[in-house]
Amino acid sequence: MLKKATRLLLLSFTFVLFFPLQQTFANNDSKVKVLHNEANLYNEDYSTVQQSVVKNTFIVILEKQQQWSKVDVNGAIGYMKNTAMSPANSEIRLVVSSSSPIVRALPEKYAQQIGHVQSGAVVQVYNQTTNGFSLIETKDFTGYVYTSILKVPASKKMLVGDSKGAAVRNSASMQVPIQMTLVQHTEVSVFETKDGWSYIQSGLIQGYVIANKLKDITPMPKLNLPKYNTGLVSKTKRVALTFDDGPHPTVTQQILKSLSKYNAKATFFVTGRNSSRYPAVLKEISVAGHEIGNHTYDHVKLTAISVKAAKQQIDATNKAIESAIGNKATVFRPPYGAYNDLTRQQTTLPFVLWSVDTLDWKHRDANKILQIITSNTKNGSIILMHDIHQPTANGLDAVLHYLSMQGYEFVTVSEILQ
Ligand code: NI
Repeated sequence: MLKKATRLLLLSFTFVLFFPLQQTFANNDSKVKVLHNEANLYNEDYSTVQQSVVKNTFIVILEKQQQWSKVDVNGAIGYMKNTAMSPANSEIRLVVSSSSPIVRALPEKYAQQIGHVQSGAVVQVYNQTTNGFSLIETKDFTGYVYTSILKVPASKKMLVGDSKGAAVRNSASMQVPIQMTLVQHTEVSVFETKDGWSYIQSGLIQGYVIANKLKDITPMPKLNLPKYNTGLVSKTKRVALTFDDGPHPTVTQQILKSLSKYNAKATFFVTGRNSSRYPAVLKEISVAGHEIGNHTYDHVKLTAISVKAAKQQIDATNKAIESAIGNKATVFRPPYGAYNDLTRQQTTLPFVLWSVDTLDWKHRDANKILQIITSNTKNGSIILMHDIHQPTANGLDAVLHYLSMQGYEFVTVSEILQ
């Protein structure tokens, strides 16, 4: 709260003194709006109601007109009164990915592709969906990407050092018009500096300034790194985190959140029973890019039942997984690690056990998980945890932080076994 108040104060201060008239909020130019009240989406005749849209829904403007705009509401195209829509708040995020992530028209894995964003790009983020997507805007387009590729950029506070001020532009080029000029001594947050340009934010103003117009606040500027920003550690080792026995409606969700903060991929060995109970959670795991493994339907010891029953356990789980996520399981883990030659022949999926057992099911102690991991993990380790116990989810952030700082990259079991 305090931070926001300070920002606003700084902004109104800037307005009053230097930009009394021409000033517009960066957000007013955005194609993304939000409904401050329930409103109707109309057909082209402006009178037939297509649907009623609830408060707080995000709207993407396709074509702005005098009183009406052509809009996209979660894939429904229609017309809406401009007065119904307010500028939406956004936050800056950095795209961090080994590829050029796809931007899609809707927050769904197979939705229409509308373009790509490059790793290292700075984007505005408006809204996060519960299934792992974020609504982003770049200067080229508006659409959805996986939330897991968006990182809080490391920012550094600096001052405008040039007595003539620093011009802010929408792109890193002298050819584009000046958005506004920040006067000397204005404090700015610097997100990234590349090819002589810095991407900065000051109040609600965001854009590019020439880097040498800025100076450090103190001789030793403090880097304000978020706790989970470990981009400075080079990743030379790999580890596969695995979570068994879920999905669980709340614990799994918390685990997914932590994994996403660290851009970590993991493997979930799910039971058929829990997959049928919580297909939406399983779908969320899959949409976030994690690997899904089969862990039998009822979590049975396969060596204690008939071969026929064992095959049924595996097949029924494959069915439950496929009907929830639309894809097949790619690996198998027998409960209790119990199998023999006969059980092995009941599926073509690779059997994957583990090399580090956190014993989380036994001690139910968030701190103990980290202790066991610190003393046993090495390059190539497969770590066993369970996404049905709350302490495991509570201890995961510390585990991810520790392993990141040790230079580990988090990959799926199939990747580590390659
Ligand atoms: Ni298990």
